[in-house]
Amino acid sequence: MAVASLGLMVVAVLLGAAALVAAAGKFDEVVQPSWANDHMVYDGDLLKLRLDANSGGGFVSKNKFLYGKASADLKLVPGDSAGVVTAFYLSSGGDKHNEYDFEFLGNVTGEPYLVQTNLYIDGVGNREQRIDLWFDPTADFHTYAVLWNPSQVVFMVDDTPIRVYENATSRRGHHRHASSGGKGATTSSTPAFPGPQPMALYSSIWNADDWATQGGRVKTDWSHAPFEATFREVRVDGCAWAGNASDSDAGEVARCTGSSWGKEGRYWWKEKEMSELSVHQSHQLVWARAHHLVYDYCVDTDRFPVQPPECAGR
Ligand SMILES: *[C@@H]1O[C@H](CO)[C@@H](O)[C@H](O)[C@H]1NC(C)=O
Ligand SMILES: *[C@@H]1O[C@H](CO)[C@@H](O)[C@H](O)[C@H]1NC(C)=O
Ligand SMILES: *[C@@H]1O[C@H](CO)[C@@H](O)[C@H](O)[C@H]1NC(C)=O
Repeated sequence: MAVASLGLMVVAVLLGAAALVAAAGKFDEVVQPSWANDHMVYDGDLLKLRLDANSGGGFVSKNKFLYGKASADLKLVPGDSAGVVTAFYLSSGGDKHNEYDFEFLGNVTGEPYLVQTNLYIDGVGNREQRIDLWFDPTADFHTYAVLWNPSQVVFMVDDTPIRVYENATSRRGHHRHASSGGKGATTSSTPAFPGPQPMALYSSIWNADDWATQGGRVKTDWSHAPFEATFREVRVDGCAWAGNASDSDAGEVARCTGSSWGKEGRYWWKEKEMSELSVHQSHQLVWARAHHLVYDYCVDTDRFPVQPPECAGR
């Protein structure tokens, strides 16, 4: 989908746009500060979130969305970022919320950033995975994205899937995975999958030196503050929830779930080819996990003596 011009965007917003698109410098069409307003800083066409000894900072999207793709072109804190966590995530809010997280764990100069992903379903998380990256994320902008629809939640780095959380029920219908019932039968419960809750997009930067870097052993060195994460673009292509509707509005659920076409146009993120990875993407995922996965809750038997149901067959 092409980046809309400002004119088109204003029209789209007036129509209740399916796709809200932020070109560089148009962040304020999409997001607003969520706390410590003065720690969200515009710098020309860029947007920075700042952490100093006084505060971190963050933003939240003006709309909520049910299904779509949210992405950020992001350059992480350069140099010494030990203790500093930058997060980019979707959350529906409330006790029973769904949440899809990217958390970027800083490190001392020259040591690798780790990217932690997690999923909360109905308020329950504890699904952490960690990867290192095949590039220096502080040297340039890279695109981090979450695609979510009723069949899967996909975490992507520069279009390479690094993690997929599948709807086991919809998966069962696909012949490619028809045998997964065998191993799955060893666990009693069907894996949970996030239900239709509209999600807002968030980003924040904060001090997490109690746990983030080398298990909390390396603390934030405040003589290197301020720490800044820089955004070139934040964008959501998704079904925008009506501003006046409650989060459980049945009409909105039906509108955003029901068809691949809304009144605003094609909901490409819900088309059939988006219900599972392509063969090429499956190969990319295997490559990313083989070379860059450093932690997976699915195989952490200290934390989970009984393997979580969604992990069966891995
Ligand atoms: C999972 O997939 C099934 C089959 O396509 C569908 O009926 C169900 O609504 C999906 N679950 C969720 C929570 O979206
Ligand atoms: C930081 O660097 C150390 C040393 O290379 C590494 O063991 C660790 O996984 C890195 N990341 C974090 C978050 O500690
Ligand atoms: C929200 O506003 C639209 C347009 O004004 C209206 O059609 C709809 O009924 C409203 N929905 C709710 C839940 O109030």
